[in-house]
Amino acid sequence: MSENFGDFQMGVYAAADKGVTSRFPFDYRSIERKAAATLPEWVYRYVSAAAGDGRTQQANIDAYAHYGIVPRMMVSPPQRDLSIDLFGKRLDSPIFMCPIGLVGLCSPDFQGDVAAARASAATGVPFTLSTFSQAPMEDVIKQTGVTPSFFQLYLPGDRELAASLIGRAEAAGYSALVVTVDTWTLGFRPSDLERGNFPQSRGYCMENYYSDENFTRHLAKPPHEDQPAALAHYAKISAHPLTWEDLRWIRSQTTLPIAVKGIQHADDARMAIDNGADVLYCTNHGGRQANSGIPALQLLPAVVEAAGSTPVMFDSGVRDATDAVIALALGAAAVGIGRPYAYALSYGGTESLTHYLKSFLAEFDLMLAICGFTDIATLKQAGVERTLTAGCR
Ligand SMILES: Cc1cc2nc3c(=O)[nH]c(=O)nc-3n(C[C@H](O)[C@H](O)[C@H](O)COP(=O)(O)O)c2cc1C
Repeated sequence: MSENFGDFQMGVYAAADKGVTSRFPFDYRSIERKAAATLPEWVYRYVSAAAGDGRTQQANIDAYAHYGIVPRMMVSPPQRDLSIDLFGKRLDSPIFMCPIGLVGLCSPDFQGDVAAARASAATGVPFTLSTFSQAPMEDVIKQTGVTPSFFQLYLPGDRELAASLIGRAEAAGYSALVVTVDTWTLGFRPSDLERGNFPQSRGYCMENYYSDENFTRHLAKPPHEDQPAALAHYAKISAHPLTWEDLRWIRSQTTLPIAVKGIQHADDARMAIDNGADVLYCTNHGGRQANSGIPALQLLPAVVEAAGSTPVMFDSGVRDATDAVIALALGAAAVGIGRPYAYALSYGGTESLTHYLKSFLAEFDLMLAICGFTDIATLKQAGVERTLTAGCR
């Protein structure tokens, strides 16, 4: 019999029997606390920031408590198959790491993209590299081993640069393009505004731009020798109002499968498919963009219904594996971990993130085992129940 992800916990107990307890935490609250104590204040502030008064970010987290799973007995699947097909690839599990611009700053060596790519290789959990990264996309993907990875695109206003970024992602070997459509301009984030905290404007995580000839040829000097000029050029091409025509143009530029990230309305789901999306990605950006007040989880079923046979990736508010199980049972094809993995990088880089992802997969697998689900299809068939006590977390 091959290994289940859940076996990880037996290894933890076995090590403890020999006197070795884990250096890293297992629950989200401890992970966040450790990150808050470890990260530079301005990095933690940026990662934890929400739009407006933060009600949407909190609603995302609380939403999962409205749903539950009814366990089935006497099925006891000894072997679970967590794998799924996405973007024409077989993935070991339906869990992936969301794109997080600035995750590059979340590991102790400020090379968090590379560290996350290594953890992806070690766990089989795909990494989505943000347009904003501390290392160029070509360097990051070299670290992902056989695990597929995705490149997230913020479409710049300069079409030559946009075509170049898309072409580079395809040439480098990314398995899909994740096109983010909810951030053509920045959300209003009071805690960052208070300190004028926008790390990109100090030159962090700009390497995909700085390594691109279609960016640098507009500059008199190499970007690292004259950051103000490089950033002034970036400011000119960054905030680009998006329309469905842009998606059609992106479609014309690549044979990579495209996921459209930021879909919350059923009509937008249909428009995205009509204009070239292979996959939809339902999210409200973790409550960092529109402070809509509606948790992304609440909007997921309508997006899934409108999507028909098109797979729907999902994120927002996932804090542990139980949340991921619920999102899958509500129709998501794959579920993204956001802030928690950035925090898990902070106190040990690749090692602590690998521990976190293995621990997440173990919890996920054991939920399926104990509830009597052999695979993702049987979980989806079972669906969710509404809970009587929708407790806040
Ligand atoms: C610090 C930070 C930076 C982010 N950067 C990006 C990004 O570069 N591109 C993108 O599509 N989404 C980005 N996101 C959104 C995430 O991909 C994801 O939608 C969000 O983190 C989910 O919410 P959660 O972390 O509360 O679960 C970012 C989120 C955070 C917290």
